[in-house]
This record gives sequence, C-alpha cells and structure tokens, in this order.
Amino acid sequence: MKKEKDVIILAHNYQIEEVQDTADFLGDSLGLSIEASKVKEKVILFCGVHFMAETAAILAPDKTVLTPDPGAGCPMADMITGKEMREWKEANPGLEAVCYVNTTAEVKAECDICCTSSNALEVVESLKGDKVLFAPDKNLAAYVARHSSKKIIPWDGYCYVHNNILPRHIQEEKRLHPAAEVWVHPECRPEVIELADKVFSTGGMVKEAQKTEKKEAIIGTEIDMITRLKRVNPAISYYPAKSNAVCSNMKKINMAKILRSLENMVFEVKVPGEIAQRAKKAIERMIAV
Ligand code: 13P
Ligand code: SF4
Repeated sequence: MKKEKDVIILAHNYQIEEVQDTADFLGDSLGLSIEASKVKEKVILFCGVHFMAETAAILAPDKTVLTPDPGAGCPMADMITGKEMREWKEANPGLEAVCYVNTTAEVKAECDICCTSSNALEVVESLKGDKVLFAPDKNLAAYVARHSSKKIIPWDGYCYVHNNILPRHIQEEKRLHPAAEVWVHPECRPEVIELADKVFSTGGMVKEAQKTEKKEAIIGTEIDMITRLKRVNPAISYYPAKSNAVCSNMKKINMAKILRSLENMVFEVKVPGEIAQRAKKAIERMIAV
C-alpha cells in the first residue's frame, strides 16, 4: 500500500520496534527535517510527535504530511506559546531568540533561529550577540551555556522523560556495569550530564554505536533508543539508565494506526501559510549553520 500510494515513512529513533522495522528512514529531529525537505514521494507518513510532523510540513509544502495519531504531542513543546515567545522577545529588545525544534510552528515563527539537540551549540555560537534567549528546554540551555562563551537566558521548560532521569539512576547502573560508558541526551539535568562520559542527540548515539570500541553502554534517554541502537550495533550491551524512561506520546504510534493512515490517508498535518513561511525561515537559518 505504501508503494501503491507513493508514501515514505519517516520515523523518530524513539519509535517502537515494529514501527522502526517499517520505516524507510529513521533519524533524530535534525536528520528527519533534512530528509523531509528532499523526499521524492507524494506523501510523508511521519511517525513521531506532532512538532516533528509540523516541521516536515513546513519544509515540504508541496507534499501531504500525515500523522498516524494527531494526539501524539510533546509536553515540552507546549511549555511555551507563540504569544509568550513574542512577549519574551519584546521584554528583551535586541536579543536573538533560539528555539529548540521541540516547539510548535507558532513559536518557531516568532523566534530568530531554530536548533536541535545535535546542533544547539553551533547555532548559538553562530549568532552575533553575546547574550541569547533560549526556549523551551532549560536543561539543553544549561548544556549549551556550559560550552559557550555567550550568556544564555533560558525559558523554564523541560522534558519530563529526561528530567526524571536522576544522578542516582546513573550511579546505580555504573555500580552494576563499571566498564560501561555513559551516554546521555542533552535534555537530561546538568547533574546527570556531569556523570556522563558522552552527551549526544539520538542521532549522535547512533553514530557512536557504529564506531565505538566499547562493549557496554549505559543509555540516558528514552527507552526505545536501545531498540534503535541494537539495530545499529548488536554487539554492544546497552543498559537503560532508567528502565521506565518512556515518552508516552511517541508510544501512541503503532502498526494499527499506521495501517489506518495508509488506508484512509489520515491525519493530515497542515501549518497555516503565513506561520509556515516565518517558521521556515528559522528552520532554514538553522540548516544553513
Ligand atoms: P533528538 O533530536 O536528539 O532525536 O531529540 C528529540 C527529542 O524529542 C528528544 O526527547
Ligand atoms: Fe518531547 Fe520528551 Fe517525548 Fe522528546 S522525549 S518528544 S522532548 S516529551
């Protein structure tokens, strides 16, 4: 049906195993955005959360973008609205605002440049000013601030999946697996990042699994990242930092809903023209970095 209806399935690295098996392309937020901007198929069936499908719709305006479940959102993306971003910028005249890709199209339309977890530092460094606004993830902001000479003013948002991974979880896994390297996502708390050997986007973890000589790794991110890493390098033993680090919205996508999408060509994700145009500028400025 996928071939018959000229559909490509893009899926995020946190999707469940059978969705990963079905996808034509698996990636992190940056990889998926870039892929969406160059697909040949008429329809993109996007298996991830809503802001990711929106980003695909913005970058591929002549394609039909479908989500298997329009209710699969990202609570962190909902921690700032377009109005709040506009008011924050007005209250800080002259400062540029960086917005994490985990935001709605309305927020992207109000910011100056987007970033993802794999390029946040480069994006911040590319700006002229020595002070920047950064929304919505305070943990990613703290990670960037630690490596940048610029002053980062964070919004008070966070991802509950990553924020609930605590230092004691890492310490316990390190005690059980002393030879393992610790890889964490930059959405984790600074105290957790402090205990990590390496900090990666989900795409960065995939690259690391392809090239590392290590035989064991403790993974500080959403649980199905381990499903993804096992596909890439099954010779490594992966231990979750926290076995119930589950993004319930990512898990809303399943095979029955994918089939429903293919059969009925639902649910279309559309971004209103004027918002899409302004959001696209911020995303393209990021891709250019
Ligand atoms: P990545 O861009 O690293 O895949 O992260 C997306 C995300 O939502 C992490 O929680
Ligand atoms: Fe959002 Fe966190 Fe889920 Fe990523 S893991 S989609 S940031 S809630």
